[in-house]
Amino acid sequence: MTDNQETQDAAAEDTTPSGSATLPLRQPCERLSCHKSSVCSRSYFVVVMVFFHVYIINVIALLFYVHYNSGQEDANRSRDAPSSGHQRPESRRPPSKDELQRDISLPRIEGIRVGHVQKVSLVSGRLHEMRTLSLKPLLFEIPGFLSEDECRVVMQLAQLKGLMESQLMVQDGQEELARELNLSPEEIFNLLDINQDGQLQLHEILTHSRVRDGIWLTPENLREIYAGLKADKDGNGLLSLEEFRLLSNDAFQRFLLQRGVKRSQLVRNSRHTWLYQGKGAHQVLQDIKERVIRLTRLPPTLVDLSEPLQVVRYEEGGHYHAHHDSGPVYPETACTHTRLAANASTPFETSCRYITVLFYLNSVDGGGETAFPVADNRTYDEVSLIHNDVDLLDTRRNCDKSNLRVKPTKGTAVFWYNYLSDGRGWVGEQDEYALHGGCMVTHGTKWVANKWINIDPDYQRQTRYQQLVLQQPEEEEDDDEDLTMNTGIQSPSIHQDL
Ligand code: OGA
Ligand code: CA
Ligand code: FE2
Repeated sequence: MTDNQETQDAAAEDTTPSGSATLPLRQPCERLSCHKSSVCSRSYFVVVMVFFHVYIINVIALLFYVHYNSGQEDANRSRDAPSSGHQRPESRRPPSKDELQRDISLPRIEGIRVGHVQKVSLVSGRLHEMRTLSLKPLLFEIPGFLSEDECRVVMQLAQLKGLMESQLMVQDGQEELARELNLSPEEIFNLLDINQDGQLQLHEILTHSRVRDGIWLTPENLREIYAGLKADKDGNGLLSLEEFRLLSNDAFQRFLLQRGVKRSQLVRNSRHTWLYQGKGAHQVLQDIKERVIRLTRLPPTLVDLSEPLQVVRYEEGGHYHAHHDSGPVYPETACTHTRLAANASTPFETSCRYITVLFYLNSVDGGGETAFPVADNRTYDEVSLIHNDVDLLDTRRNCDKSNLRVKPTKGTAVFWYNYLSDGRGWVGEQDEYALHGGCMVTHGTKWVANKWINIDPDYQRQTRYQQLVLQQPEEEEDDDEDLTMNTGIQSPSIHQDL
């Protein structure tokens, strides 16, 4: 009904000439087919005409607005190209001095749609196919990125160097941190009580314990601990503040350590090592780095100054529960790689890995897929990741419930963006959909390598860091050239032990 009314109104407006001042006075009455009465008076006509004029002025203003804004977006797009189809809307505010000074744009590959295949030139004389696996996160797969020989060399070099446990059994320093913060049981209870209902649900405790001590608890484990510690007096599976108060600060951890923790109960059960890829490194490692530069289209300096190649080996039964490779961006957070350039000491440090390139060095006999539990979900809700005792982050149990799984195939590379764009050509917020993990290997072993590309979401800090490590005086060269032009410059001092 409303639609009908709108159509009629539109039809009426369509027939209204824009030079309405020349209209014969009686026309509105005729069109509305009303009788000559008080309604068809001159004043009624004036009111209708005023309405039309205001309407037309509004339409013109709207057209101007749309024209002006799309003009601006086009300008941004040509500056940012190629950019992602998956950016958050920009907030329209006047650019700050910092923003005016920078005019570098980080390229982002277009995903187009899931299943879209694009040809990419990574080595001379051959094109690779790159398939879009998801848009949230922006995730691609490139079969044959590494040759069989390259895979073999990387595994051999890693073995030569020696691999170490990816996660130690007991995480040190957590108790001290808790003591330093000096929080009361009420304060801790409040922090844990995410939904603020005055009770601690199982998932509220589980989420916390993983961050705290790296031991992966299942809902059953937690019930067992409650029983062992007689923590849940009324047995309803929830902890009230009174029940919580009776527990000592490290009661959980002490209980677990007494009972013994197996490697399979850790967040990550694998071994790894790091391989330096700069000048003097094995040619295969340098070639891989060059290919990554061509794949991501990022300024070579950014890739040169990133972490070395991490090579990971999972034995049968190995896994890596779902996690983010990068941390969230808060004003008080500093990136590990740019801490040299931080102005003041920052209380929190996190990895800032703009892109993850993951290489499969062998094909796995059973299991070992890389799972993306919430890829292309319509919404993201952290709380519902653990629901009704099904924990989507648990890659030993629930990989089959992940939205997306990539089967490890020798030589294939997958890569994704851990951050969104800020809409102005730089790194924006963490992409929560980039959550991923390594499913349990059920047969054989699994070898992968990670190439992380570190970029600080704080543009000024990234620039300062580059100036520091490249040992260039601040005034000597333009900021933009630091990021885009220094293709041949290698970091002189970092990663030399690798
Ligand atoms: C990692 C990781 C996934 C996998 O090493 O950070 O997420 O499939 N690996 O091994
Ligand atoms: Ca609660
Ligand atoms: Fe990861």
